[in-house]
Amino acid sequence: MEYQDLLVEVHDKVALIRLNRPKALNALNDNMMNELGEAFAKFEKDPAIHVIILTGSEKAFAAGADIAAMKDYTYQDTHRDNYIGRNWEHILKVRKPVIGAVSGFALGGGCELAMMCDFLVAGDNAKFGQPEIKVGVTPGAGGTQRLPRAIGKAKAMDMLLTTRMIDAAEAERIGLVSRVVPADKLIEEVLEIAQGIAQMPVSVAMQIKDCVNRAFETTLSEGVNYERRLFHAGFGTPAQREGMYAFLEKRLPNFEGL
Ligand code: CAA
Repeated sequence: MEYQDLLVEVHDKVALIRLNRPKALNALNDNMMNELGEAFAKFEKDPAIHVIILTGSEKAFAAGADIAAMKDYTYQDTHRDNYIGRNWEHILKVRKPVIGAVSGFALGGGCELAMMCDFLVAGDNAKFGQPEIKVGVTPGAGGTQRLPRAIGKAKAMDMLLTTRMIDAAEAERIGLVSRVVPADKLIEEVLEIAQGIAQMPVSVAMQIKDCVNRAFETTLSEGVNYERRLFHAGFGTPAQREGMYAFLEKRLPNFEGL
């Protein structure tokens, strides 16, 4: 399928989606977000795909929502049309693992979109920020909610109120990203990480994602109960049998199709 604002490749069991509006530093407009929804839905359905990578260009993951597109919106337009809610959060419906690979700017809606990924790997040139206040609005895609959960209130407030951009090293130190790698090796490294996950049983990867996301929506005891149900339900499945027998037989497990 051809997209106008995305580039899409498949590497074995891994889909790589690149945001592609280079002239606008991948500013997120309606068409791009609609296409992103379509691409996620397609890979979610495709049994050959186990992991999805979302990335941008070397200069920008995404510099935010498209300011030129929204500059004249009124409250009525945004509310009636459910701006952002309508087409930004498809990524949250994806049950397979989604890794964000961030190079360059991830600002405003770009940082918010990155935070909707399951985890982030950053190039050493990455810069994260929530500068919405400078263009006269609050964040609109989870910046005031996911950011404090990810890095704590003090750092989040600092970023949201001062618009200070943090670099990759600080983002790793405070837990916004899981690893930092040289920018020119970012895609290579993230593909290797994704290929590793893709060798695991996709059914279990999806359950782990489900459990971790539940941790942010429920109490600890409810979350642990939920996890335990899935743990119990895993016994007798082909993935459990293969994983445990392979360990005891001192061979590599083969989770193909599991
Ligand atoms: N929307 C639309 N166009 C954007 C854009 C955005 N968010 N960010 C960058 N661009 C465009 C610029 O207008 C420019 O276009 P022209 O060449 O046609 O003038 C092009 O991308 C290159 O940008 P710069 O010349 O500014 O590049 P730079 O290297 O000097 O600066 C930058 C890079 C610091 C990222 C700067 O572009 C910038 O500050 N961008 C805006 C960041 C921002 O405010 N993001 C938040 C948007 S609001 C939001 O996201 C709401 C929400 O929560 C959902």
